[in-house]
Amino acid sequence: MSDTLWPNSASVDEAAAITVRLIDAVLDRLLRVPPDLEARVYEAMRYSVLAPGKRLRPLLVLASSQLFGVAQRSALQVAAAIEMVHAYSLIHDDLPAMDNSDLRRGRPTSHKQFDEATAVLAGDGLLTMAFQVLADPDTHGDAAVRAELVSALAGAAGAAGMVGGQMIDLIAEKEPLDIGAITRLQRMKTGALIAFSCEAGAILAKAAPEVRLALRGYAHDLGLAFQIADDLLDVEGSSAETGKPVGADAAAGKATFVSILGIDRARAQAELLVNQAVAHLDLFEERAELLRQVARFVVNRRS
Ligand code: IPE
Ligand code: IPE
Ligand code: MG
Ligand code: MG
Ligand code: MG
Repeated sequence: MSDTLWPNSASVDEAAAITVRLIDAVLDRLLRVPPDLEARVYEAMRYSVLAPGKRLRPLLVLASSQLFGVAQRSALQVAAAIEMVHAYSLIHDDLPAMDNSDLRRGRPTSHKQFDEATAVLAGDGLLTMAFQVLADPDTHGDAAVRAELVSALAGAAGAAGMVGGQMIDLIAEKEPLDIGAITRLQRMKTGALIAFSCEAGAILAKAAPEVRLALRGYAHDLGLAFQIADDLLDVEGSSAETGKPVGADAAAGKATFVSILGIDRARAQAELLVNQAVAHLDLFEERAELLRQVARFVVNRRS
């Protein structure tokens, strides 16, 4: 970025800590609670989006933006937008009608803390606000870039991406899916938002098609590895570390990489995908060291 957020030699832990601090400040600024009756929905939006998450998607936006020298303000706005969409997806994912989960980011889920109707509205509010942020001239001076961001995030979040993946995920509790179908499900429900996060820097910088393709290749493998790691944590992790219930997938009879391949082969697959992801970054040379570290973090994480 023109005004760099961290030195090129920053470790993933250092960059992640800086990301949390900066993104939380932007989210706090964008989500002011009005002194009116609708304040409750703002409180619920803040409750979920400002809860302590890893901020992996914002980190990917900032890291991909830094590759191209994108202005800090632009990158931070897009990073906040993707975290809003992610938080909305978690609120709705936890609802009784979906995963029926009581714990998220170490705290009661939105529908437990507030109520179901408020949780639905908080999700809706976060989703729509994300697009308002992307369309804001503050995000980028060029309207064509803003339109491309809106279109890319809509594609990633909607029925062709996360929403479609969540639909298939519900079907995976009822029908035995094969590994090909589960791969597609995971790429849609988790991979699509991660891919948007990785490509955001290239969109903001109007980067050349070949570098976009490289980032897309990285994201494609990273997103799948990330969800396999999530499925492994559901089996091997602890609620104290992940901040959410464990054992939920098996209890729901959900087909995942782990249920089909077993723990060892699922882990091997995630590691293979990470190596593949990293191989896409060769053209960026040492400038992509942080993205390489992020990929390794994704499979080694405990939360
Ligand atoms: C959890 O995402 C939902 C999945 C897509 C698997 P994260 O593991 O990134 O959750 P937070 O943001 O850190 O809470
Ligand atoms: C949800 O996947 C991914 C989303 C699109 C929210 P999971 O249902 O496995 O996510 P967790 O384990 O509840 O975080
Ligand atoms: Mg789910
Ligand atoms: Mg869930
Ligand atoms: Mg999970």
